[in-house]
Amino acid sequence: MNATAALREQARQILESNWTGRFTRPAPRLYPHQWSWDAAFIALGWAHVDQKRAQQELRHLFRAQWRNGLVPHIVFDRRARGYFPGPQVWETHRCPHAPARKATSGVVQPPLHATAAWAIYQQATDRSAARAFLEELFPKLVAWHDYLFRERDPQGEGLVYIRHPWESGMDNAPLWDGIEQRMHLNPSDRPRYRRVDTMLVAEADRPTGAEYDRYVYLVRLFAEAGYDEARIREACPFLVQDVLFNTLLCQAEQDLAEIASVLGEDPEPFRQRARRVAEAVNRCLWDEQRALYFDYDLGVSQRIWVRMAACFTPLFASIPDGLQAARLVSHLEASGFFNWDGSRYSVPSYDPNGLGFSPVQYWRGPVWININWLLIEGLARYGYTEHAAHLCRTVRLLVERHGFYEYYHPYTGEGHGSEQFSWTAALVLDLLARRPTWMQWGVRSTRRRAVA
Ligand code: SER
Repeated sequence: MNATAALREQARQILESNWTGRFTRPAPRLYPHQWSWDAAFIALGWAHVDQKRAQQELRHLFRAQWRNGLVPHIVFDRRARGYFPGPQVWETHRCPHAPARKATSGVVQPPLHATAAWAIYQQATDRSAARAFLEELFPKLVAWHDYLFRERDPQGEGLVYIRHPWESGMDNAPLWDGIEQRMHLNPSDRPRYRRVDTMLVAEADRPTGAEYDRYVYLVRLFAEAGYDEARIREACPFLVQDVLFNTLLCQAEQDLAEIASVLGEDPEPFRQRARRVAEAVNRCLWDEQRALYFDYDLGVSQRIWVRMAACFTPLFASIPDGLQAARLVSHLEASGFFNWDGSRYSVPSYDPNGLGFSPVQYWRGPVWININWLLIEGLARYGYTEHAAHLCRTVRLLVERHGFYEYYHPYTGEGHGSEQFSWTAALVLDLLARRPTWMQWGVRSTRRRAVA
């Protein structure tokens, strides 16, 4: 077996070992339930090796969709133990829209699902089964996006808000530091709980106790509001229009339009919504002077001037024009996020020169494969193929040298968080299948120019 085939097989085996028979765990011990955006990334990988499982992954998630269209960020597996916070903290039975028979969380994660469903269909050899899958999922995807626009964009601006750091997918990103500082908790407000994550992986790799206090405080606020969005909006100290979340929604609407066309439905309403989101991202989140997209904090009506790798991801949804894209790419190189010389692995999740950068702590600096994947696809769209291929090389080196980890130290490449991480394996499968030349080119050029 050559090196590429061996890598593919290793990645497939990780998905296989995390497969529960109904869905794929993001990681063996740290994440024993199903997570929403993980499911979408994982389905992108399964699509290349097992169509049925790719479809089943999304089916399982959408079976837990709430009646108002919300897709929960966790679908709990009743047989699994050892995760905090569990269903008793979320108390979703307080909401009339939550499913009675499924235990779920009550927040969402970035909406990558239509994108994954469309990719599954495109990879399918059995087109009629894949079409039936799209038919089944289409109304659920529409209800999901409708929920976001109806409940999370009450002013009709074209941008949806998130209301918990967990909804961004980037839990402890420095993006949220300012808001969390404002959330002063009196001793009586501090929730009592026991974390499990820090018993399973290094404490230094995970969010701090003060951050967890705020995560749990917000969950209790939602439960006590009965998950009524109007009440939450009034009381919630965390309301943010996030670049990554809106970018993925924009792309998901474009992909929903493709799905609609295949099914003989009218694609135009979805295209229109995608255009509206793209315009709003450019109007409200683009900073002309700094040549970057920034999140917007609705609590204090201010931009959040924090540079994350996610600030470059609008490339993935074709949101910037050619000039903006060129400026973004220059910024990516000049800022230290992207480097050619091999002194560190691109692209760290947070500005390596930013205040509070950590090479190991979750979303405060380590390299994440899903963000790199979004940037690879975004750079490729605008013709930056050398840059995209360089990132493919980074991904390949990281997994070959260090294993399939949740995230990586940008200087040493050492893996952190959980090992056997499903979306790392899934996205490697996707890149090997769809970007084979760049993944090969990566190996060849490594011999000429070592990274790290
Ligand atoms: N990512 C969070 C966790 O670590 C919750 O979604 O558990």
